[in-house]
Amino acid sequence: MTRSPKYSSQPTVTMVRDSANRYGTMQDMNILVVGGAGYIGSHMVQMLGQRGCEVTTLDNLSSGHRDAVLCGRFVHGDLADTALLTGLLAHGKFDAVMHFASFIQVGESVAQPAKYYRNNVSNTLNLLEVMQAVGVKRFIFSSTAATFGEPQYTPIDEAHPQRPINPYGRTKLMVEQALADLDSALGLKSVSLRYFNAAGADPAGRLGERHDPETHLIPLVLQAASGRRPHIGVFGRDYDTPDGTCIRDYIHIEDLCQAHWLALQHLMDGGGSEAFNLGNGTGFSVQQVIDTARAVTGREIHVVDGPRRTGDPVVLVADSRRARQHLGWTPAYPELSTIVAHAWEWERRATA
Ligand code: UFG
Repeated sequence: MTRSPKYSSQPTVTMVRDSANRYGTMQDMNILVVGGAGYIGSHMVQMLGQRGCEVTTLDNLSSGHRDAVLCGRFVHGDLADTALLTGLLAHGKFDAVMHFASFIQVGESVAQPAKYYRNNVSNTLNLLEVMQAVGVKRFIFSSTAATFGEPQYTPIDEAHPQRPINPYGRTKLMVEQALADLDSALGLKSVSLRYFNAAGADPAGRLGERHDPETHLIPLVLQAASGRRPHIGVFGRDYDTPDGTCIRDYIHIEDLCQAHWLALQHLMDGGGSEAFNLGNGTGFSVQQVIDTARAVTGREIHVVDGPRRTGDPVVLVADSRRARQHLGWTPAYPELSTIVAHAWEWERRATA
């Protein structure tokens, strides 16, 4: 494997966080990004590279894209491959591991639970055991609002009970629980980041969402706007909300990545294991997303009303005050119109 040069279109040294320079510079950080060819992982790899970190992506390309890895070293491999993992981690001198490689479709997890437990739990434990064997002790984990299950109250803070209602959410909660035990037993420090609805695209237009099949609302609405799809189906108009459609908390991909960056600083500073909910704290209905997409794109978007999708909570909104207080996290792109505009720019490039 050859090392490609660090991504160099941005300054390679970033002064971080506070005026006292408590963390110094981060340009010497060496990070393994598992799943770095996927939607969120690829944006993270780019951010780490732009900020001067040494980055290695490990991805099996089952759903990711090799050309989405814009900087650092790429290793094609699978988390189930213990020999590959051991070789990579034993020689990599990684300061931390970020783990984005999981299956994410709730419906599929209900139909094929073993696939989800195998990848999201067993393979993650494989990674954690290899980290333990070679002495890498910092881990940042992509968790999800799906660990909470049906909301008992809104917005959802970290004290909310975690009672997932589908295998996807259960696999993520299992890993969160394993991480707490690994800290107690071995001192492995981790930050679990519970995403609400990740959306948007790289503001510079180099990266965006490319799931196949696509199941997420914003890219589907924009594909209806661009003509790649004939319409957007609305899953239920009879919910107990002002316009009858479900409400979600959409968070810009760059803001998600910035939270990972701050979590990394937290761990490098000797911080303890934590879990944070990540959202903007503002809910938008499916209809509001469609209306925003119409305004942003200036295109007609055909809508077909359909039945409810099984397992959809009515309202999912994050209380992210803890991340703001403990990590100093402030979303830079909280407006839905900005999130949709960046996603639209990506869709326009894809269809140009
Ligand atoms: N929706 C539609 N039509 C579509 C697609 C989605 O009406 O074609 C609706 C859904 O019913 C939901 C909203 O748009 O009300 C958002 O749906 P997404 O599929 O975009 O996102 P989810 O809220 O279902 O999923 C997100 C994450 C999952 C996570 C889940 C937790 O993407 O990984 O939250 O509930 F598991």
